[in-house]
Order: sequence, then C-alpha cells, then structure tokens
Amino acid sequence: MSNQAQKAIGVLDSGVGGLTVVHEICSLLPFESIVYFGDTARMPYGPRSYAEVRGFALEIIEFLQHQEIKMVVVACNSATAAGLPYYQERCDIPVLGVIEPGVRAALSYTRNGRVGVIGTTGTIGSSAYLKALQKANPALHIIARACPLFVLLVENDLVNTPEAEKVAREYLLPLREAAIDTLILGCTHYPLMAGLIQQVAGPEVKLVSSAEETAREVKEILTSGGLLNPLRSGAPGHRFFVSGKPSSFEGIGTKLLHRPVKAYQVLL
Ligand code: DGL
Repeated sequence: MSNQAQKAIGVLDSGVGGLTVVHEICSLLPFESIVYFGDTARMPYGPRSYAEVRGFALEIIEFLQHQEIKMVVVACNSATAAGLPYYQERCDIPVLGVIEPGVRAALSYTRNGRVGVIGTTGTIGSSAYLKALQKANPALHIIARACPLFVLLVENDLVNTPEAEKVAREYLLPLREAAIDTLILGCTHYPLMAGLIQQVAGPEVKLVSSAEETAREVKEILTSGGLLNPLRSGAPGHRFFVSGKPSSFEGIGTKLLHRPVKAYQVLL
C-alpha cells in the first residue's frame, strides 16, 4: 500500500484496556482501520519498572510499524508515563499518549478544583498526572491513589462480584473523604468498571476517561497531517493481536466493541 492516509492507526496496551480508546476512535472515525496489540502475556504493566515497560512498548510499536500504520496511540497510561517522549524520538510517525488528553478533559469538568486520580502503581508513582494538572492549574487540590487490583478484576471478568466492590470501596475511600468532584480514570482498563467506580465514588463525582479526548486528538493529528482515510465506503479493517491466549481478550473485546473480535496470538 503506498498511500499513507489509507494505512491503519496502531493502538497498544497491556491488555483489553486500550479497547476503550479503540471504541471511541471507531465512533469518531468510522472509516479508519485499526491494528491493535494487547500484551496480555506480560500484563499487568502497572507493577513493572519504567525501563521494562518502555522496552515492551517499543517492541510493540516496532511490531505495529510492520503492519502498515500511519500513527501510534499508546492507549496505556502506564506505558505513556514510562516514556512517551522515548517512543516519539524513535518513531517517524506521530505517537500519542493518553495522559495529556485525560488531564485536559478533567480540567474542563472540575468546578470545585478538587480532582482525584486513580491509576496503576506505575502511573501514580510517576506523578505524571499530578505534574500535568499542577502545571495547568497550580491551585488544584489533587488526590492520587494507585488501584493495582482493578486491572486484574477487568482482565479476569470479575468486575461484577462482591470482591470487586469490596476492593473498590477500600481504594476509593480516601477520594470520597476528600470531596472531589472529578475523578480521572488514569488507566484505560478502568472505564470497563466505570459502573462500580461511579457507584462507590458517588453520583456527584464526574468520571473522566481519556478515551474520548484521545480520539478527538487522533482526529486532529490525522486531519492536520492530511492523513484521514480518503476511502469512505465499506467496513475498515480492524486487526487484533495479543501476546497471550486470545480467548478472554476476544470475549471482553466482543462485548465492548459490540461486534465479533478475533485476535491472533503473536510471540514477540
Ligand atoms: N491499561 C493500562 C494503563 O492504562 C495498563 C494496566 C496494567 O497493565 O497494569 O495503565
């Protein structure tokens, strides 16, 4: 294929979480093809060192670049926090992360300036959200909390269980006590358990996921670069790759994207 604009958007995550971003990209840009990689054999990324996560992400980006892509979306907060500039320096196509878009969305919602952030141990430990929020508005009161078990609850389809509710109550208690009005879901897996998080955080708290804002930014990058797919008919091709066994990924993906998801296992 020679036309850069007809190439796919490459998206990566440690597992199914990045599909929440794919969902928004597909709604906003229905004619774009997607090539997705979920590193299910090596997830969760959250507890791993930044150097290790950076290495994994770069390896996946290299794989995606062999699949005819025109840009990369690092649909994983942990991988974004571990080294977005590192990937950008090593790629000659646009590479977008999910933290800046999430921060922008939160800033547009908060009314009382009290913002909660939840994410993996790696993302919260990096203070990436804290720094970006404070840079945008030094007066914000920010409460950050790592919720390491959430990713495992999502990946193992255990979100609707009493155990999940117990874990959520424990993690979110300090945020409830802090009277936040906005809660950033700083992990792309968390929108898959937004119902439970909303129930525990309280109806007055606005949940912010970076997925929608990221999709808007993908559109902006493609539009300004003259990279929107000119083909406006027929279904775009979506391809899904995983490093682990495909079955659970396919099940969760099919539910989330409302269409059959077939994934191929690739050993990196
Ligand atoms: N979904 C990812 C994130 O946004 C990774 C979660 C993990 O593997 O720990 O951080």
